[in-house]
Amino acid sequence: MDRLRNKVIVVAGAGGIGGGLARRYAAEGAAVVLGDLDAASVAATVAEITAAGGTAVGTALDGADEASVNAGVALAVERFGGLDGFHANFASFKDGESGADILGLPMEAFDEVMRVNARGFVLCTRAALPEMLQRGGGSLVYTTSGAAFMGEPLRLAYAMSKVSAHALVRHVANRFGAEGIRANAIAPGVVSHARFEAVMDPDVVAGMAARIPVGRLGRPEDIAAMGALLMSDEGSFITGQVLSVDGGNSMRQ
Ligand SMILES: NC(=O)c1ccc[n+]([C@@H]2O[C@H](COP(=O)([O-])OP(=O)(O)OC[C@H]3O[C@@H](n4cnc5c(N)ncnc54)[C@H](O)[C@@H]3O)[C@@H](O)[C@H]2O)c1
Repeated sequence: MDRLRNKVIVVAGAGGIGGGLARRYAAEGAAVVLGDLDAASVAATVAEITAAGGTAVGTALDGADEASVNAGVALAVERFGGLDGFHANFASFKDGESGADILGLPMEAFDEVMRVNARGFVLCTRAALPEMLQRGGGSLVYTTSGAAFMGEPLRLAYAMSKVSAHALVRHVANRFGAEGIRANAIAPGVVSHARFEAVMDPDVVAGMAARIPVGRLGRPEDIAAMGALLMSDEGSFITGQVLSVDGGNSMRQ
């Protein structure tokens, strides 16, 4: 549990899964910068990490805004001396909220999801890479989704945005691999956490769990365990991959 000692990691997106990522990275010894639009959720997680003896600072961060993302990376460099890892984890779910298929989907919802999830992940990569290259290498991790390859009647923009992140992973891994940069996506299945439970019917949740081979929904800790491996030197031969962490829900080649 000490694999990330002396590493500096930015986690962008501090919700259910993001909180789990930040706690795990700090528990393994990393200095963490945690950013989100939601200042309260950032503050709560940073307080938890600090109380447990870890190192974390929080910041207001809009992952879809170039200046804001650059400021998040600059904060990591100023406070902790450089950057070794960046986990782009935030997402807009606006098209799912619209409840519409392609024919009814408001194009404003489509544009917003692509602006945040697709363009935002590109901005994060452009902000993080120069600092990592200066350091001699680093690990970029992106939270995507099983929606990228499962096919669904709704959430078209969400799925398309997550597919785009997979292309981004492969570009970064290929172009910068020789310079010590690794890039991978974690594609979660359904992950339960407080925000998720607040809006889900327990009977629906039980039905979902029954359809997953391991018989339960995911937890933020499941995603964080994969993230910690990818951020650590133990993951040094893993790059350019989309890794499903979903209890066997998708069994693709
Ligand atoms: N929970 C699941 O079942 C599940 C499944 C597959 C993939 N995912 C992915 O996991 C990631 C985290 O999702 P979650 O379940 O923790 O949801 P969540 O709603 O708890 O967290 C998402 C966070 O992103 C933040 N955010 C939104 N737009 C932002 C922006 N422009 N800049 C910065 N922060 C912004 C929100 O404020 C929120 O804190 C997302 O990328 C999501 O697509 C989740």
